[in-house]
Amino acid sequence: MKRIVIFASGSGSNAENIINFFKHTKTAEVTHVLCNNKQAKVFERCKKLKTKCLHFFKEDFYTSDTVLNILKKEADFIILAGFLWRIPQKIVAAFPQKIINIHPALLPKYGGKGMYGMHVHQAVKDNNEIETGITIHYVNENYDEGAVIFQSKTVVHVKDTPATIAGKIQLLEQRYFPEIIQEVILNTHE
Ligand code: GAR
Repeated sequence: MKRIVIFASGSGSNAENIINFFKHTKTAEVTHVLCNNKQAKVFERCKKLKTKCLHFFKEDFYTSDTVLNILKKEADFIILAGFLWRIPQKIVAAFPQKIINIHPALLPKYGGKGMYGMHVHQAVKDNNEIETGITIHYVNENYDEGAVIFQSKTVVHVKDTPATIAGKIQLLEQRYFPEIIQEVILNTHE
């Protein structure tokens, strides 16, 4: 049984979906969710799911080794599910090919700092894209630049708005993210 720690910053719909998925497998379990935003809805979701959700500050992440030490103790794999901070080099180095992110666009398009959530869908709309999608990728120390593991596309119609695009992306995320995480875990041999 591998141990997953999820990082989230906001609503946590992906975190909830991943926690539920792994309750029904023997591959892995989600031991903790770590969150940088005290107001985030993910705390409520975790309470309901009886999964530990811990808040941390910027200095716990970048300056001290507080978060790194939790991960070393608790995690085999790290999943970024709507997490908005760059991962420090010391954590990337401690978990090579063990950190996976989901991005709500077809990288390398619409990636990088500031490109998250509705900003991405607004940019897709503004550029009259005819398709968008999700990218699941390994994480390195630069935003949205690690090797791609999986992508799935959806059509953007002229009448779509950033909000309807967000809905289509959420469906893809719910459909594929836990399954792809499971595949990566099963195919990773220490
Ligand atoms: C998701 O759509 C995820 O792909 C995106 O934030 C949303 C979080 O939703 N991530 C990024 O934009 C990362 N750059 P959630 O909190 O409900 O899972």
